[in-house]
Amino acid sequence: MRTLNLDLGDRSYPIFIGHNLLANKALFEPYLRSSQVMLVSNTTVEPLYAAQLEQTLSGYSCDKVVLPDGEKFKNLETLNLIFDRLLSQRHNRKTTIVALGGGVVGDMAGFAAASYQRGINFIQVPTTLLSQVDSSVGGKTGVNHALGKNMIGAFYQPQSVVIDTNVLATLPDRELAAGLAEVIKYGLIADATFFQWLEENIDKLIARDSDLLAYAIEVSCKTKATVVAQDEKESGIRAILNLGHTFGHAIEAYQNYNGWVHGEAVAVGMLMACDLSQRLGWIDISLVQRAQRLIERAKLPMIPPSTMTPKDFMAYMAVDKKVLDGSLRLVLLKACGKALVTSEFDSSKLSETLEKYCC
Ligand code: NAD
Ligand code: GLY
Repeated sequence: MRTLNLDLGDRSYPIFIGHNLLANKALFEPYLRSSQVMLVSNTTVEPLYAAQLEQTLSGYSCDKVVLPDGEKFKNLETLNLIFDRLLSQRHNRKTTIVALGGGVVGDMAGFAAASYQRGINFIQVPTTLLSQVDSSVGGKTGVNHALGKNMIGAFYQPQSVVIDTNVLATLPDRELAAGLAEVIKYGLIADATFFQWLEENIDKLIARDSDLLAYAIEVSCKTKATVVAQDEKESGIRAILNLGHTFGHAIEAYQNYNGWVHGEAVAVGMLMACDLSQRLGWIDISLVQRAQRLIERAKLPMIPPSTMTPKDFMAYMAVDKKVLDGSLRLVLLKACGKALVTSEFDSSKLSETLEKYCC
């Protein structure tokens, strides 16, 4: 097992990465504040892994809420199911929420923890590759609104993150690929050596080589932890973790959160961000082509949904959280491993990128 630390002063926490960690009681016990535990999962993950975790937590009073599965349920109505259960079962301030699932469960359970009785403990147990490399780390929690993704939420850090790589065995291929999109993101924004490693190993990652997956998770979490430690609430550098997300969130909102999965939308968004960076003269065409090849080999989509127009993109991008004083800010690249967030770009080049991708 490897242990990383997200350094946030008195809110620092460990990230445990390894095989068979769901069975390791010692990874949970120090972070439980009382005998009360509320497991939050969904209809897909609960039948696969809840019993194992409940067994590990034997001796605790382990309550459970099982949410419907899907991004389309990541909303206030579903969130209320968690509050209903917490209140009806009289969970007090010392209860601990354990989020067992992908990013949707983790984001919602985290927001419930942030707001129930003004804040209770929670532990992230991410079960998708995407949630293991990204959403479980860093404390962004929340739900979607019909007018924009993740628009209602809070920064609220967990007490620990337990990443059991065994659970990836049951993950559908499509979801594995979606997670790889966020892994590729770390190479593009912060680590050219890792990007090259991904080019060399992407086929083995797709084939679920468990040691290589554990390495990719560790590098990704390390990069994320380093960035979040510098800028927890995204007043600056943390925004680079959103490479491709402004375009990607527009795709997800356009599809009413009921079409592509998040990682797929991010994959196309990253290619659009690369294209724009190259049009601005900031990166070489060879990097755009390398990104395209890697995304293609990871079996991810490379163009937006065919019905989407530049106008659709602009409408949804206008409500992005990075918009400041009416100016659209985008995460763009200056080199492989070097990203920046800026509103200072020639908007005609953005139009060219949108025209090219919406043909
Ligand atoms: P998800 O939570 O919808 O999970 C994808 C699918 O895989 C679901 O059907 C789920 O039930 C299933 N699943 C999960 N684990 C499984 C397993 N081990 N075996 C079989 N099936 C399994 O999607 P996701 O990609 O994990 O997360 C996407 C969400 O995360 C989005 O809502 C996105 O906005 C959010 N996100 C948040 C952050 C953050 O910093 N908080 C970062 C990135 C993404
Ligand atoms: N996934 C982007 C962030 O955590 O900031």
